Amino acid sequence: MRRYKLLLLVLTVISFTSLHAQDPVIEKKVNALLKQMTLEEKIGQLNQYTGRIFTGPQSTEKTNLQTEIKNGWVGSMLNVKGARSTREVQELAMQTRLKIPLLFGLDVIHGYETIFPIPLAEAASWDMDAIKRSAQVAAAEAAANGIHWTFAPMVDIARDPRWGRIMEGAGEDPYLGSLIAIARVKGFQGEHLGDTLSIMACAKHFAAYGAAIAGRDYNAVDMSDVELWQTYLPPFKAAADAGVGTFMNSFNTLNGIPATGNDYLQRTILKRKWNFKGFVVSDWNSVGEMLKWGYASDSADAAIKALTAGSDMDMEGRIYRRKLVQLVKEKKINIALVDDAVKRILYKKFELGLFDDPFRFSDEAREKTITSDPQHRQIARDVARKSIVLLKNNDQLLPLAPSDKTIAIIGPAAKAKRDMAGSWTVNTDSTTFISLYEGLASRMSSDKLLYAKGGTVQHSTGEEINEAVAVATKADVIILAVGETWDMSGESKSRADLRLPGDQEKLFTALQQTGKPIIVVIMAGRPLVFNNIADKAHAILYTWWLGSEAGNSICDVLFGNYNPSAKLPATFPRSVGQIPLYYNHTITGRPYNTQKSKQYLSVYIDEENTPRYAFGYGLSYTTFEYSDLKLSKTSITNNDSIIVTFKLSNTGIYTGEEVAQLYLRDEVASIVRPVKELKDFAKVQLVPGETKEIRFVIAKEKLSFYNKELQWVTEPGKFQLMIGTASDNIKLHSSFELVNGK
Ligand code: NOJ
Repeated sequence: MRRYKLLLLVLTVISFTSLHAQDPVIEKKVNALLKQMTLEEKIGQLNQYTGRIFTGPQSTEKTNLQTEIKNGWVGSMLNVKGARSTREVQELAMQTRLKIPLLFGLDVIHGYETIFPIPLAEAASWDMDAIKRSAQVAAAEAAANGIHWTFAPMVDIARDPRWGRIMEGAGEDPYLGSLIAIARVKGFQGEHLGDTLSIMACAKHFAAYGAAIAGRDYNAVDMSDVELWQTYLPPFKAAADAGVGTFMNSFNTLNGIPATGNDYLQRTILKRKWNFKGFVVSDWNSVGEMLKWGYASDSADAAIKALTAGSDMDMEGRIYRRKLVQLVKEKKINIALVDDAVKRILYKKFELGLFDDPFRFSDEAREKTITSDPQHRQIARDVARKSIVLLKNNDQLLPLAPSDKTIAIIGPAAKAKRDMAGSWTVNTDSTTFISLYEGLASRMSSDKLLYAKGGTVQHSTGEEINEAVAVATKADVIILAVGETWDMSGESKSRADLRLPGDQEKLFTALQQTGKPIIVVIMAGRPLVFNNIADKAHAILYTWWLGSEAGNSICDVLFGNYNPSAKLPATFPRSVGQIPLYYNHTITGRPYNTQKSKQYLSVYIDEENTPRYAFGYGLSYTTFEYSDLKLSKTSITNNDSIIVTFKLSNTGIYTGEEVAQLYLRDEVASIVRPVKELKDFAKVQLVPGETKEIRFVIAKEKLSFYNKELQWVTEPGKFQLMIGTASDNIKLHSSFELVNGK
């Protein structure tokens, strides 16, 4: 036993060190270069400017970028793109004394030229291969356009759809979020940095940015340490373990300390506990924003606090550039801190191969062939259809049979193209996108396809609504395309009202007068509230913003070329007042179920407790049956595992994929635990009539949690095991006991 433990320890140490191992050859080069650098050249490496695109407030400072670069005052540029532009700018860096190449960073969030679904939509696919492929294509295109580094993935857990940036992440669950973080990091970075088909990734925003109070962007965050460790940090840890090259810190404070000046987050956790060897870039002027927060008295104070806390590179804040040289000379900041930051940055430049050839990513010939590779659109279409969630399908209205039925396509989103790109598209030409209308038109004879806009997303006139009703009256089926415009979700797009904007619900109600079946297609960047539609539409597809191939992929689902398989990665509330609403909440001392009286119970007097659509929910055109749950043991110790098996059958008439979800509940513990937590899932394809045995393994890791001392522990006791098709639709129950936990 002892020998076994020793072996385990040795293996853990080996895997830990190899995971974070630095290449001694590169280290030697970094150290040699550092020795040659003047203080000014070192500080230059910590400075990042934006090019002519502004993805944050424009600085009032007039800067001659060319001179700054030629003088070695810049380590990295963001928002410069294209093989030619990056080459031109890199040429300036080659005029510096030491010829240290620039690092080009960009927000390649869900595609470069070929736009994929927004990250939240992709998360709904629960398909790690698809998500990884999407990142690979984005990386290949960006890399061919001179980009070395993407500011993605965003791995912030978000439980508040008022926060517009929920669209950039993987939703509310730490387990699903961690797997997606790994898939994205591996997709962007490929096998190793330096491959010109991949780019360096950046896990952001460290940390807890998704918990901004009241869902208002850039706001403060206040949370317990247990919550931080249990819910918000796991995807960051997963990204670090997957080898992500960089981290970005965040705009928020965490318990009173701005993330940028937060030593606990960046040094204690990230660089010491997790042994992260890459570098941390600040968010856009987040060093400077510490003055506004009232956490730094002046720029010098901000520079000291940020660098001391572990922020290595100053994005567009200019504060390191202006202050650090003097601060080091006055001995107000230790040069060792500067050296550490510089070394981290230089190491990545070596790893990317930029010292061998600073122009290796800026190749116009490759840019042409890779950016316009037609295969990329095919991949985007596949990922897009996997991201569409079927919320409702009364009387099997969908899929539509290719018949001679007349379809009226109505609504402000029907012909939308730019909106399909959502937020964070840095290079795309959305005129090449396929709108839903175009998708339909390419499949139907023109006399069978009727159209009316019915107004804009923001407003419909009576006349526009009347015209829509008149057109719809002539059809057999109505498809109503509604949602948000691209600039309603994303950074700085918090909303206090999550109902469908404008008069879109009114348009739906008017169309109901026709008595025709209505399929509602909702295109948005976040979970919205649409109770009337949820109650009365015949079918609902939640398509989010699907990117370049939106229209084709929606039609694939409408006509049954693809059977929807997506599941919600975030809870859909019934009303904004329920927010934050998430499936892995704790119970209360006065839980409300469905008792008649609400008196003295934890419930709203004017609203249900339950969501409109729960985490993990999503329908298929076929039906699945769960049966024969078996546990290999019902009592285990920390060194054991349980093999869980059950049967999943396709009992419908279409081939389909089901995401079978495994949840656990620790019944009694030294700290109150959630009512359920996702611990595993399997996405399985079955043909009609087929049955497969599904297998999950439960071991210590899945039973552990952070106790109040922040130790990752298990405690003996009973666990409930739940397997289901959604977090609120459990099909199989069992339980087991953990004995002698520690
Ligand atoms: C601010 C955003 O918070 C961050 O996510 C982004 O990467 C930077 N701006 C750069 O555009």
